[in-house]
Amino acid sequence: MRNRKILVYGGSCVLREGTYKRDILINGERIEKLLDEKSDSSSVKADEIINAEGKLIIPGGIDPHVHFSLPLSGGVRSADDFRSGTAAALTGGTTTVIDFITPTPGESLDEAAEKRLKEAEDSLCDFSLHFSIVNGMTDVRNQLKECSLRYGINSCKIYLAYQDTIGLKDDQAFDVFKAAAELGVKLLVHCEWGEAVDFQRGEFIRQGKKTAAYHAASRPPWAEQVAVAKACRMAEVCGTELYIVHVSTAEGIGEIMKARQRGVDVNAEICLHHLFLDDSRYTENVKKAPLYIMSPPLRPALQKKALWKFAKAWIIGNISTDHCPFMKAEKLEPDNFGSVPNGVNGVEERVPLFFSEAVSRYGFSPAQASALLSGNAADFFRLKGKTGRIEEESDADLVIIDTKKAMKISAASHHSLSDYNCYEGFKAEFSITDVLRRGKHLVRNGELIRTAGKGKFLIQSM
Ligand code: URP
Ligand code: ZN
Repeated sequence: MRNRKILVYGGSCVLREGTYKRDILINGERIEKLLDEKSDSSSVKADEIINAEGKLIIPGGIDPHVHFSLPLSGGVRSADDFRSGTAAALTGGTTTVIDFITPTPGESLDEAAEKRLKEAEDSLCDFSLHFSIVNGMTDVRNQLKECSLRYGINSCKIYLAYQDTIGLKDDQAFDVFKAAAELGVKLLVHCEWGEAVDFQRGEFIRQGKKTAAYHAASRPPWAEQVAVAKACRMAEVCGTELYIVHVSTAEGIGEIMKARQRGVDVNAEICLHHLFLDDSRYTENVKKAPLYIMSPPLRPALQKKALWKFAKAWIIGNISTDHCPFMKAEKLEPDNFGSVPNGVNGVEERVPLFFSEAVSRYGFSPAQASALLSGNAADFFRLKGKTGRIEEESDADLVIIDTKKAMKISAASHHSLSDYNCYEGFKAEFSITDVLRRGKHLVRNGELIRTAGKGKFLIQSM
């Protein structure tokens, strides 16, 4: 059967080198040709023609950090499964996501991977997975070696926080840093000093200080700073390729910069919520405050300002979401901050909120904003077929943006199954009209076409 051809004409394309008028000819799943103004697109024969006149076209977003169907102890699961989470992602211009394989107690990495791949069969986005190495696992190096070869996954996460459940002690962490370095696996690290956080949480709760503000107080910037410094030293000693997830403070980023000066290979991401929300959410409405509990917590507004500067200066290369929403009742029911499930939404909001705010308020070029949303993640995680850019031979993952139409964010219209949205009432200056994933036109005029087929698993090249 011959490939379907699509012509997207009249749009301004955000390319690696800048924004230019280009018509895009898609052949099957790939971009075949970018046609400039001198080319005659009218002679091109296509099965579908998409009019993008007056619109901006950016590459499909890549969110390297989401948690769909994340089971927590006590039987609670994050609100979105792979289907609803990726429906939200696609509608919001993200065509690729990376979730996690996290073994439960007693489970091998291989068993956990098989189970997770089954759950991910419902994904509408293309997807990959990071391994997680958690407390209690044995024979870690061999498991990582075998599974990395078997599944084509070359990234793995550990937690320095959560010492009472999945978090690793320093000696266990060192073993994983060493194994990852030997195997050429990138190591993602959740950097909060777990012992200090646990001590402070215990103290606060004993003193009856149980509101969400104490969640933030128990996880101060220095707890992140100490853990980032430690992770960077471990990477330096072992020669590991390090990626700090959700760095949320200037202090943490300072440690990354110091480590880079010593030659440590360290990359990092900032999460959407740390760029758009601040810790006033923990005090202005105490009843609703648990809705904004995640780890690391929301920070003072000055930190938020600093994070934008670090992103603009190219010091931090990725904007992710850590999408992990729960239902309102699950967040509001516990009588102390320590029992509130951690996490908020973001996978649907990341591209419209970040892209429009970065470009229209903070003066990022569209090319830089789109590198932070897709190109850099594609380069770093080396997802097969994805360059995260609009260029010939790349997967045809495209997002068409109307820069003249703003959009309001609300739980009433979002695609997540969660019954609230932490960005409720926020306005994105631009709106997404159309999304193509590997040449499939899955969002049309802002509406998701739900019958349009599944995403595929992407291996990570070495
Ligand atoms: O608050 C967060 N980060 N929730 C998601 C689970 C995790 O910690 O990765
Ligand atoms: Zn996470």
